[in-house]
Amino acid sequence: MDSPPSRLEVIVLAAGRGTRMRSCLPKVLHDLAGKPLLAHVLDTARALNPRKIHVVIGYEADRVRSVFSSEKDLSWVEQKQQRGTGHAVKQVLPHIGDDALVLVLFGDNPLVQQNTLDKVISTLGQPETKNAPDIVLVTAEVAEPAGLGRILRDPAGKLAAIVEDKDASPDQLAIREINTGIMAASKTLLQPYLDQLEPDNAQNELYLTDIVALAAKSGTDIAVCNTEKEYEALGINDRAQLAEVERVYQNLEAQRLMLGGVTLRDPSRLDIRGDVDVGMDSILDANIVLEGRVKLGERVHVSSGVCIRDSIIEDDVVIHPNTVIEGAMIGKRCELGPFARLRPGSELEESVKLGNFVETKKSHIARGTKASHLSYLGDSDIGERSNIGAGTIVCNYDGIDKHQTVIGDDVFVGSNATLIAPLKIGDGGFIAAGSTISVEVAKEELAIGRGKQRNITGWTPPAKRKPKINRES
Ligand code: UD1
Ligand code: CA
Repeated sequence: MDSPPSRLEVIVLAAGRGTRMRSCLPKVLHDLAGKPLLAHVLDTARALNPRKIHVVIGYEADRVRSVFSSEKDLSWVEQKQQRGTGHAVKQVLPHIGDDALVLVLFGDNPLVQQNTLDKVISTLGQPETKNAPDIVLVTAEVAEPAGLGRILRDPAGKLAAIVEDKDASPDQLAIREINTGIMAASKTLLQPYLDQLEPDNAQNELYLTDIVALAAKSGTDIAVCNTEKEYEALGINDRAQLAEVERVYQNLEAQRLMLGGVTLRDPSRLDIRGDVDVGMDSILDANIVLEGRVKLGERVHVSSGVCIRDSIIEDDVVIHPNTVIEGAMIGKRCELGPFARLRPGSELEESVKLGNFVETKKSHIARGTKASHLSYLGDSDIGERSNIGAGTIVCNYDGIDKHQTVIGDDVFVGSNATLIAPLKIGDGGFIAAGSTISVEVAKEELAIGRGKQRNITGWTPPAKRKPKINRES
């Protein structure tokens, strides 16, 4: 006997423009927590291990498809004209196996949780199972049902129909049990009901929801599941709802971190846009954005205004305010900022200190080295315990190519040095402040590359040399 998931095929509806978004961008490509709405639904669908995922696209179909072009497990179905959710599902049926259990999800409903869908699938069971319902519908009781399809029940409480907001009477509008849009049934059952749909409604569309009334009339057994959480029913039709769902998502992420032992000074002022992992006893201050794949170790302190993207930060690192870190690896006990900028390819070993207005790019900096103020370190490899003085600039670019600068261990670079790459400074090298260095400095050498100072006595200051120019003459 095969198990239900192996016959499961998911249909994700994503063909609509999303007129209420007032946007040229298709609704399902709008960003929620760093990725398109549709990507959230697809991730949830994948977690169910379905045999196939069909995505119905229509408005800007090529654009939607191209965003997901690397995801080869998706099967795309085009709905040329958006004639309603029932019409959209109809387009997919020819591509679905006859023995399939079909689960319909909406691309604009990104907070649906796997638990709820697992419940739907197990409720639907297998055709051989006695007493298994023929259709499973997910409904929710919500405080503000405006805009959603309302669930109508007969006097005995049995599901009778779904009426869309635009078609509902004032009495029906008061109903707070709504259709989330999630529905599951076997293909064999869906097909005949879809064929009977008529566009006799306010929007002149084929509503998927109308199959509920058809099924109820013909005695088909319809089961209702509830969402585990109310927020799962939140769909996104306009930008206010997008912002609302973003907040719900962010709150869930904040809860996850706090339950994992992270202190958030204000859970409502943290934004997580990607896969973020934070170790125990780390402390995140207000207004921090973490994007992409970010891993923070234990006891990391992150101050306000910090943005971190695609980076690994090890234990006990201290990040002062307004530091921006991207594509970097930061070793234990480093101290960064305030106002430091670490660009992709920055690799810091343990206990490195980068202070204010220090920028690094494609640079490896070994343990204990410090650049405390106002520096640019690009395409460089710097040894241990070196000191990079204030205002040091590595000139890595000659207008055509980038060149490498290699600085050894225990090097002292005085303030305002200009290091012209390609360049090597040996271990223990000492660069005098204000030098321009373009020739290799050997081990323990002192290099001074600056004009010799002249002091002139008995000179006449400029103001005393000429009378002031009268501008009005
Ligand atoms: C729909 C449901 C409503 C439910 C609500 C939940 C219907 C008729 N209504 O209303 O009962 O309470 O979702 O959020 O099903 N789509 C297509 N092709 C089309 C039309 C729509 O692919 O021809 C897609 C849209 O891109 C969207 C989804 O289907 O992802 C839902 O369509 P939408 O127009 O947003 O339906 P709602 O009015 O929200
Ligand atoms: Ca919707």
